[in-house]
Amino acid sequence: MADNLVYERVHGNMQILGLNTAESILDNWISTAAEKEMSMIEVLDHLLDQEVSIRRESAIRTRIKVAGFPVKKYIKDFDLKFQKSIDKKVLDELCTMRFVHNQENLIMLGAPGVGKTHLAIGLGLLAIEAGFSVYFINSADMIARMKMAAQRGNLGRKLKTLNKYKLLIIDEIGYLPFDSEASNLFFRLISKRYEHASTIFTSNKSYSEWGEVFGDPVIATAILDRILHHSITLNIKGDSYRLKKRKKAGLFPKTKEVNSKL
Ligand SMILES: Nc1ncnc2c1ncn2[C@@H]1O[C@H](COP(=O)(O)OP(=O)(O)OP(=O)(O)O)[C@@H](O)[C@H]1O
Ligand SMILES: [Mg+2]
Repeated sequence: MADNLVYERVHGNMQILGLNTAESILDNWISTAAEKEMSMIEVLDHLLDQEVSIRRESAIRTRIKVAGFPVKKYIKDFDLKFQKSIDKKVLDELCTMRFVHNQENLIMLGAPGVGKTHLAIGLGLLAIEAGFSVYFINSADMIARMKMAAQRGNLGRKLKTLNKYKLLIIDEIGYLPFDSEASNLFFRLISKRYEHASTIFTSNKSYSEWGEVFGDPVIATAILDRILHHSITLNIKGDSYRLKKRKKAGLFPKTKEVNSKL
C-alpha cells in the first residue's frame, strides 16, 4: 500500500478512536523518530503516554469542577507549626487516601478559623488526583436541596446523586441548627453512605453538642453511631488562623482556649 495511504489511514483511525492528542503530535514524532533513530515501540510509547496524561489532566479538571469547592486550598499550604494539635503523621496518613479506599469517615472538630475547611478541601483535591469522585457541600445548602427534592418528589434521586460520590464533604455542621425534617433527611443520607462511601464532616460543635444541633438526642445518637463506626476524628484545638495576622499586629487581644469542650 502506498505510504501516503497508510499515513492517511493512521490519522483517520486515530481520529475514530478519539486519540486526539496522539494524532496531533504524530507528525512531529514521525520526524523526531527518523532523526533520532527511535524504535517503533518508543514512538508508540511516547504517543500513548501523552494521550493518557492529557486525558488524566482533563478528567481531574472536570472532577474539580464537579466537586464545587468554594475555593482551592492545598494541604501543602497548611502550616502545621501554627496548628500544633494536628499530628503530622495522622495528616500524612489521611493524605494517602487509604481512608477513602476503606470507606471510612473523617470528622474535623474545632472552633472557627482553625483550618477545618482548608483541610477538607485539600484532602478533597488529593482524592480527586487519586481518581475518586468528590463533592463538597455546606450542610445548610445540602439540607435545603434535599428539602426541595423531597417537596418535588425527587428525594430518591437526590440521595442517589449524593451517594454516588466516593468522597462527600459536608462542611459546617452545627452553625445552624437542623429542624426535625432536616435531621431526618440527614439521617437518611448517612444511612445510605454507611459502610459504602467516605464522608468528611466539619463542625464547630463537639459530639456532646450534636444532640442540640439535630434537635433530638435519639436521632443524633443514631447519626453519630453510623458516622463513627469506621472513622477518624481530628480535634483541632488552637487559635483561629484568620486572627493570626490581626493578633500579630496587636489588633486583637489574645483569646483563651476557645474549644476546650472539644
Ligand atoms: N494552619 C494553617 N495554615 C495555613 N492556612 C490556614 C491554616 N489554618 C487556617 N488557614 C487559613 O485560614 C482561613 C480560615 O480557615 P478555614 O476556613 O479552614 O477555617 P474553619 O476551621 O473552616 O473555620 P469555620 O469554622 O469558621 O468555617 C482559610 O483561609 C485557611 O486557608
Ligand atoms: Mg469552615
